[in-house]
Order: sequence, then C-alpha cells, then structure tokens
Amino acid sequence: MISHEIKINFKEYNTLKELDKPNYDLCAEAVKAMKNSHSPYSKFRVGAALRLQSGKIIYGSNQENAAYPSGLCAERVALFHWGANHPDDPIEAIAVTAHSDEFEILQPVTSCGACLQVLAEYEKMYNKPIEIFLFCNNGPVWVMEGVESFLPFLFFENRLIS
Ligand code: THU
Repeated sequence: MISHEIKINFKEYNTLKELDKPNYDLCAEAVKAMKNSHSPYSKFRVGAALRLQSGKIIYGSNQENAAYPSGLCAERVALFHWGANHPDDPIEAIAVTAHSDEFEILQPVTSCGACLQVLAEYEKMYNKPIEIFLFCNNGPVWVMEGVESFLPFLFFENRLIS
C-alpha cells in the first residue's frame, strides 16, 4: 500500500482592497450579479462574474425552482451562458460571492464539485488556468490559480477513450 498526499495552493487576502484593480472590479461585478439571484427556498444568494479576454463581463446567479433539483448554481449559469454565447472569447477569471439575510456568511463560498467540473471543461478548451476569486462580505478572499489546484482528481475527456 502506498499512501499519497496531495497539496493544493491558494492565496488568501484579508480584504478585496488588496486585489489589483481588474480583479477588485470583477469581484464588484459578482456582488452585482447576486441581485438577480432567484433563491426563495435556500435564501442563499450567490453571484458569479466571469471576465473574458476581451474585457467583457458575464453574470450568473443561482436560480432555484419549486422542484428543487431543477435549479442551478450561479457559477454554472454564468459558465453555460459563456459556452452558449461567447465560446471564442476565453475566460480569464471568475469571481464568486454569496449573501444571506438570514445568517452571516463568514468564509468564502467554495463552488460545488459540479461547477468545478464545468469550469475545468472550459479551462481545458484554452489550456490556460482560469483564476478563481472566492469571497464573502467581511471575510477573507481566496484566490486559486486554475481549477486543478482546487479539484486535483478532475475528470477529463481523455478518460473516455481506451
Ligand atoms: N449555490 C451556488 O449557486 N453556488 C455554489 O457554489 C454553492 C451553492 C447555490 C445553489 C442553491 O441555489 C443555493 O446556493 C443553496 O445551495
């Protein structure tokens, strides 16, 4: 038996103000994206913003449904919008944040596995890491250089062929 250990790297900033301007601005767009969150069931509003190579910003927010599994996370709303409308304009970075009126969110929200898997697919399209910014209202900002530092055992299409 061999026991393996995997380390992941990420940066932590105390506040958004420590980010450079383009990334600070992207985080501000993620805050704006929460406005259109449809989250009457969880009351957990999530906003995601993508910055494309051209500078264009794509917004996503979580969209819930009375038939619960029909809803979708903010990240995938933004990412699928990109895939459907702007696939020729590579994604440089994604910022994600969340807010609830019901309770305080003290730590950045880390994206679910399904969202990371979708992010990985699009990252692979251009073979360039997509920078990930996760933050909440008063807590730290976590920054990952690409999805693989986040989800080391990704599933890629090369596993689909023998
Ligand atoms: N949610 C997101 O939009 N992104 C995440 O990273 C985690 C969870 C949404 C899904 C659902 O609408 C609500 O948050 C509670 O899970």
